[in-house]
Amino acid sequence: MANTNPPLQAVILAAGQGTRMKSNLPKVLHDVLGKSIVERVIDSVAACSVEKIHLILGHGNKQISEHLQSLDLNLPYESHIQEPQLGTGHALMQAQDSLKGFQGNLIVTVGDAPLLKAKTLKELVDKHVEESAAITILTACLEDPKSYGRIVRDSDNNVSKVVEVKDATKEELEINEINSAIYCFDWQLVEAGLKDLKCDNKQKEYYLTDLVAWARAKSMKVCAVIAENWWEVSGVNSRIDLVEVIDSLNKEKLKELALQDGVTIVDPGSTWIAPEVTIGKDSIVYPGCQLTGSITIGENSNIGPGSTIKGNVTIGDACTVLHSYVTDSVIGSNCRIGPYAHVREGNTLADKVRVGNFVELKKTSVGSSTNVSHLSYVGDTILGSNANIGAGTITANYDHITKIKSRTTIGDGASTGSNSVIVAPVSLGADCFVAAGTVVTKDVPEGALVVSRSKQIQKEGWSGKRRESHTAKVSS
Ligand code: UD1
Ligand code: CA
Repeated sequence: MANTNPPLQAVILAAGQGTRMKSNLPKVLHDVLGKSIVERVIDSVAACSVEKIHLILGHGNKQISEHLQSLDLNLPYESHIQEPQLGTGHALMQAQDSLKGFQGNLIVTVGDAPLLKAKTLKELVDKHVEESAAITILTACLEDPKSYGRIVRDSDNNVSKVVEVKDATKEELEINEINSAIYCFDWQLVEAGLKDLKCDNKQKEYYLTDLVAWARAKSMKVCAVIAENWWEVSGVNSRIDLVEVIDSLNKEKLKELALQDGVTIVDPGSTWIAPEVTIGKDSIVYPGCQLTGSITIGENSNIGPGSTIKGNVTIGDACTVLHSYVTDSVIGSNCRIGPYAHVREGNTLADKVRVGNFVELKKTSVGSSTNVSHLSYVGDTILGSNANIGAGTITANYDHITKIKSRTTIGDGASTGSNSVIVAPVSLGADCFVAAGTVVTKDVPEGALVVSRSKQIQKEGWSGKRRESHTAKVSS
């Protein structure tokens, strides 16, 4: 948007109970492919360069406030508590004090429509500015207009009012253009309408939608933008709506990966990928994968079947992640993860690393061409390159009494034998060799062999003698 545009702020209405969700969790905190409903709404509003966001909270406001804090939003926001909740119009009244004297445009959106793209919202604001409208309303045409408010137009095809389903006539119910409840208001003009709202409707609520008829009665300009993708305005009222919304977002992403990015999605029906994920050309996603978060995957990588990747994850080119769980980690190129590996938070893997079955990694950096191939736990460790961690190696990093976790260092080219326990804090020099079954408690110098096990005792012919004495006992 050009800098000459008037100032822009936004209000998100999120005080309602969400009764139809039948949930203890506030509706706007339900998850849509790795982000809460309200976070997705905030994302699209924030992308429109608003100077401030107002959130109207009520039901579950403590939980929602905590969630907002955890998001680390990098633009000013203010919460207003609406108690009791007397409707969407009453909700907007809660921001009035804070907006006193604001001379600009105000985006007002419901907090339960998480699919709206920033691009569509920008188009709405642009149209509003272009037309110097008092109200610009985002609408959509649906085959099944469900319980959405209906857009009533006059003989000149201008929007004359919005009518809620519960108050609509039979003819109005036939209208398939619906109200998204996403608007742009000229605040100076529209604010005066709030005090004229009445709750003389079936739900005994102050409807925000009544501002449309109010503005028309005052000869103000009301415009509408019809959303190109009807599903972008979908509101979540029930769990059926929630899964539909997740499905729409997912389908769009899978299509984009397949058609624009050159990624094969083998089984779209069992694959869930968030919009924030990027995947390079000629990578293949096999059935049963879930990728949610800020994830970047390179080219020619094979993901799945059956893998979950979550959080902030980077995976390089030509990697395989087979039947595994990966979160908040950076993985280089040509790495092989799994089957059945658990790459927990805070790992950095260089190139050509192999993490095999039943291996758990946490806060560990692994140098290139190192293998941790079977049945190991490696945590809080700096592991060099070209090292080999034998089957069943454990870094014992946790003291249950002090609750302290200690660090392990394992140098380049080092090798740990099967079933060795490395008791941290400890440092193993480069090229050292830990014999199978060893418990390492002291630092090991470079190139050394370390063995801590009792000498093997052998008694020749022992089994035969034992058997003879047993037979003699039984037969006597
Ligand atoms: C609303 C619109 C409807 C539109 C639909 C689009 C009104 C009267 N109706 O209906 O025309 O088609 O959205 O999704 O506006 N909220 C508050 N305080 C309240 C009541 C609601 O903050 O007192 C918030 C809710 O938390 C929710 C949003 O406003 O995020 C919409 O409320 P909801 O009850 O879901 O309205 P709809 O019936 O969907
Ligand atoms: Ca709704």
